[in-house]
Amino acid sequence: MKTIIVKPTPRVIKKAVKLLLAGEIVAFPTETVYGLGANALDVNAINKIFAVKNRPNDNPLIVHVSSINQASLLVKEISPSAKILMDNFWPGPLTLVIKKSSIVSNSVTAGLDSVAIRMPSNKIALELIKKAKVPLAAPSANSSTKPSPTRAEHVFEDLNKKIPLIIDGGICDIGIESTVIDMTKKPFTILRPGNITKEQIEEVLCGKVIVHSINKNQVKAKAPGMKYKHYSPKAKVILFKTKNDLLSNSAVNYAIIGLNCNGIVGNKLIYSFDSVEEYIKNIFSTFRLIDKLGIKTVYVQTVKEKGKGLALMNRLKKAASVILV
Ligand code: TXA
Ligand code: MG
Repeated sequence: MKTIIVKPTPRVIKKAVKLLLAGEIVAFPTETVYGLGANALDVNAINKIFAVKNRPNDNPLIVHVSSINQASLLVKEISPSAKILMDNFWPGPLTLVIKKSSIVSNSVTAGLDSVAIRMPSNKIALELIKKAKVPLAAPSANSSTKPSPTRAEHVFEDLNKKIPLIIDGGICDIGIESTVIDMTKKPFTILRPGNITKEQIEEVLCGKVIVHSINKNQVKAKAPGMKYKHYSPKAKVILFKTKNDLLSNSAVNYAIIGLNCNGIVGNKLIYSFDSVEEYIKNIFSTFRLIDKLGIKTVYVQTVKEKGKGLALMNRLKKAASVILV
């Protein structure tokens, strides 16, 4: 199959809709990362997503909608708390896990009785869902275990010849995947931290929510093939906090990624970002770049685990094999 990358003209959107309604899958930009979309109500199309990504079929998909009304058809009930989150954070990078209705197939939810739903804020994504008039199931458009794609070229690298169309919407604004919150039982639990923070959610809900954090032991125990092996570059990722942590740990061929860390240890390859937001926006593309350059070890600086820093640290820990701090 020939894969084409094209800018989102009205004609391209029309073509994408036609493909989706014919049971094909199409990659499209969202504000978080690129998604690999299929008609969420078409089981054959859903199966194609799993095949193309090489995704284990026990990992459920997020269904993308263009209105709260469309979301309401996919779930048993929208609770008052869920409605508050939708009103405050949709369209945007927040995914709600809610008890599913019967129109959502087990292929989408991996057999679970809940479904993950989000309304993206990216204009191209929203328009695509609106014009298709069906909800779109879409995981991140990487092949399984690769870092999520934040540019159309990343999707092409992973899925060339496997999908017909990649809509090129440029670089994703946020750069890591949406916050996922389980609303099926109390206390509500953040399953995956993201750009919408625990603090923001607690403020609008006027109550506490739980976040499962990854601890050092889980990083140490990690082996290839385990569920935690995600988001990882081929290079060995070592997390560090300060310059001192690096002194006794210099590999031969390495790079450094961090926050305001220019000049940290001489003339090695340094990717330094000015803010947590910029760090988040560039982390996955920097991981991909490091692999392209054949770098074997990358030292990655930690940030404070609060606000958006919690989401960044979650991705860094998932990529890491060693934590020096
Ligand atoms: O930002 C995003 O969320 C991107 C863009 C494309 O929207 N999508 C994305 O999808 O990251 P994916 O498939 O890479 O991640 C979906 C996450 C997985 O961690 C999955 O386990 C979880 O959502 N998930 C989906 N349905 C669930 C459910 N019913 N219960 C619990 N977790 C669920
Ligand atoms: Mg993913």
